[in-house]
Amino acid sequence: MKHSPVKVRFNDILAAYHEAAPQTIAAIARVLERGDFIMGRAVHDFEKEFAAYCGAQFCVGCSSGTTALHLALLAAGIGPGDEVITTPMTFIATSEAIGHAGAKVVFADIDRETLNLDPRAVEAAITPKTRAVIFVHLHGNPSGILEIAELCRRHGLLLIEDCAQAHGAFVAEKVNQLRHAGTFGRVGCFSFFPAKNLGAFGDAGAIITNDQQIALQARRLLNHGRQDKYLHLVEGFNYRLDTIQAAVLLLRLKSLSQSVLRRNGICVQYQEGLAGLPLTFQKLCYEGVHARHLFAIGVEQRDLLQKFLSEHGIETGIHYPIPLHLQPAYAHREFKQGQFPIAEKVAATTLSLPLYPQLPPEQVDYVIEKVRAFFGD
Ligand SMILES: Cc1ncc(COP(=O)(O)O)c(C=O)c1O
Repeated sequence: MKHSPVKVRFNDILAAYHEAAPQTIAAIARVLERGDFIMGRAVHDFEKEFAAYCGAQFCVGCSSGTTALHLALLAAGIGPGDEVITTPMTFIATSEAIGHAGAKVVFADIDRETLNLDPRAVEAAITPKTRAVIFVHLHGNPSGILEIAELCRRHGLLLIEDCAQAHGAFVAEKVNQLRHAGTFGRVGCFSFFPAKNLGAFGDAGAIITNDQQIALQARRLLNHGRQDKYLHLVEGFNYRLDTIQAAVLLLRLKSLSQSVLRRNGICVQYQEGLAGLPLTFQKLCYEGVHARHLFAIGVEQRDLLQKFLSEHGIETGIHYPIPLHLQPAYAHREFKQGQFPIAEKVAATTLSLPLYPQLPPEQVDYVIEKVRAFFGD
């Protein structure tokens, strides 16, 4: 591939830092001065604020989105002998957590328009061993969660939401009543990986829940099963949320709504500018807010378009090029090519365009111009 100087970056995680550098440094300095690096005040404050933002009773901070998923499964009592249904079109952390909990990963295909789990496929995958479903709000799209929640209620299944990409995603269940992603099931799991809508300066994560038992058990497990300093009720982990990361998150939470609005504005610009081309856009099925973590287009000549854009200095991403059932990590499960045809088609035809809140509108116009040029416009 010919290398051209980058004109449009796919993401710029430092742009958010530069918008609030003095406040960020002051927030970190407060932790340094207090010296409460482990389970310090900022962890407690962030948990309180994030629970309120999401409209959940409890938030338990932890070390990453992956450990949030692991804790959610363990705290809910999922383990060996259980089956957990999820999507093959996600980052592997979702299914890894199921395996690490000792349960069996069962994949179900996705909906072509929303790119999220297809409720009919989930229903068809249920067996007597099914205990839970992990619904992923892919790219920040909550579409399908109401149907999956209903299905889980009907079948007595536990619903865990992977909201790693869905900070700021809401569904308007009733007029003027927005409900945040992660509050439809028993537990919502978040990642604060730096590139996320709400990103830390390293790894961080959290769960939200209205179930006090789950919150208590997760809190215990993430800190060595402690009840007291050297009194351990169970074997746990060191999955604690770092205090410096919590201080950064507490500050950044204040601008989350604004940054999701900016993301949505850029996506409107893309959708209007790209109208009429042979492309598909991820569909939002409800009244509500798509968190727009990524802007993925469906395009048959995906690889050629990616190459063309790269030659014009435009960075893009592919989320995700290999669906999980075809990953070498699952070769022992002997899934077949063609088993989840929609996920496979999406993996072969999806391209994520540059997107971050500070992306200048003229750069978006440049991307639009080049995509149109690719199609001979
Ligand atoms: C859908 C999804 N689930 C889980 C994770 C894992 O989060 P983390 O990287 O914080 O462990 C990610 C993030 O990369 C993700 O995108």
